[in-house]
Amino acid sequence: MPSGPFDPRLSRRDLIKSAGVAGAAMIWPGDTEPALAAAPVHTTAPSMIGVPFERHDTVRIAIVGTGLRGSSMLTEFLSLDGVFITALCDIVPEKARRAGAMVTAAGQPAPALYTAGEHDFERLVTRDDIDFVYTATPWPWHTPVCIAAMKAGKHAGTEVPAATSLDECWALVHTSESTRRHCLIMENCCYDFNEMLVDTMVKRGMFGELLYAEAAYIHDLRSLLFEDRDEGLWRRLPHTNRQGNFYPTHGLGPVAWYLDIHRGDRFDYLVSMSTPERGLSLWRETHVPKDSPKWRESYVEGDINSSLIKTARGRTILLEHAVTTPTPYDRLNSIRGTKGVFKDYPARFYLDGQQGGESFRPIDDFKAEYTHPLWQRLGQLAEGRGHGGMDYILAWRLAQCLKEGLVPDIDVYDAAAWSAPWPLSEASLKHGSMPVKFPDFTRGGWQAPRSRA
Ligand SMILES: NC(=O)c1ccc[n+]([C@@H]2O[C@H](COP(=O)([O-])OP(=O)(O)OC[C@H]3O[C@@H](n4cnc5c(N)ncnc54)[C@H](O)[C@@H]3O)[C@@H](O)[C@H]2O)c1
Repeated sequence: MPSGPFDPRLSRRDLIKSAGVAGAAMIWPGDTEPALAAAPVHTTAPSMIGVPFERHDTVRIAIVGTGLRGSSMLTEFLSLDGVFITALCDIVPEKARRAGAMVTAAGQPAPALYTAGEHDFERLVTRDDIDFVYTATPWPWHTPVCIAAMKAGKHAGTEVPAATSLDECWALVHTSESTRRHCLIMENCCYDFNEMLVDTMVKRGMFGELLYAEAAYIHDLRSLLFEDRDEGLWRRLPHTNRQGNFYPTHGLGPVAWYLDIHRGDRFDYLVSMSTPERGLSLWRETHVPKDSPKWRESYVEGDINSSLIKTARGRTILLEHAVTTPTPYDRLNSIRGTKGVFKDYPARFYLDGQQGGESFRPIDDFKAEYTHPLWQRLGQLAEGRGHGGMDYILAWRLAQCLKEGLVPDIDVYDAAAWSAPWPLSEASLKHGSMPVKFPDFTRGGWQAPRSRA
């Protein structure tokens, strides 16, 4: 693991030092210091907002981390015309070999394999047959891989979250701007059927002015977190040494699209609260043998984190994280506006003035008119593929943007702002739910309205 990222333990003084100080509105009780805020960081590099990819006749992708997610996205990439996998990297040689066999089974030349340890991706990125480096490594490696890729002249895409600290968020922004390479957060949930349909309705004004949204990652991971393989090898660790909203982007990415974040609004500040921790301790009691080294761990992450984000235009977002209690899967995925409401799980709408009184209408009523053009075009091909088809839509759209030289749907500023709730909620929790300012990673660029191509 790289030193640092997983345990930045930002102190209040560190945060104030790195963030700068602004406005006197939010004061920590009993403290005369202004609350945490982020001053603009001065740089000479121009913004990456609205910068198109160069056109590519073919798209050559390298994957770092060929575990569960890396090999699942590999399957999606291999299904696309004109997309080639030229290099693969994993610290476990067998996993890289298995992924390499998937590439040759799909009729492509054998990719180069990089399996010589945790930093071998630094050799991979120097190849001259790669356009885009995608990382599906454990969280602490996302930023180092993306930075190495951009510095070597490649566009980068990262699994979620893109970063685990504010310093990493800024490092991604600065590297993208100085190298003129894109860094995308590969947030597949933005491309899910319901989310794209709702976004289409939002953009056509069906909910009026949006006021409030709910986003979440609610997923019972107790069993997975204790496995001796895959994510069980690394994903339990932050429960022992970090707190906050670890995995914000599956819920927050689509909500950011609804609310036009970085296209006329931005996240301004956040307050956060967590419940006590019970889930992992109780699970260990009943499932983990008493002589296991896992009994030396203590869990500090509260079972349920609820954070509230205020946007610059005054809208409010509830952001929840709950992965250690029994529950069906749920991303909340809800919006409320002056003309109606959408709630997911199950998907249902209520629009002002509708026939039939105050009852929700099912999503089927809206599919004919509002299915997103990408789903109209690709829905059949996506059927039965990863995560209900959204992984295919994400991969297809990425390839389209690279081939046609389009502006990517998601950029480094989104990667930074959608990932920032983890360190910001952690800082808020450490200070009695104090409001904590989001840095303006765009340095003012968020104000210009833009539509997605
Ligand atoms: N978007 C989604 O729907 C989705 C779903 C699952 C996981 N994920 C994300 O994908 C990432 C990977 O998760 P996963 O489930 O595949 O975990 P995993 O443990 O199955 O895979 C991670 C892989 O990275 C390899 N690895 C570790 N350090 C490395 C390094 N320095 N260089 C190269 N390889 C390295 C491991 O050997 C492993 O094969 C995580 O960030 C996770 O949050 C996203």
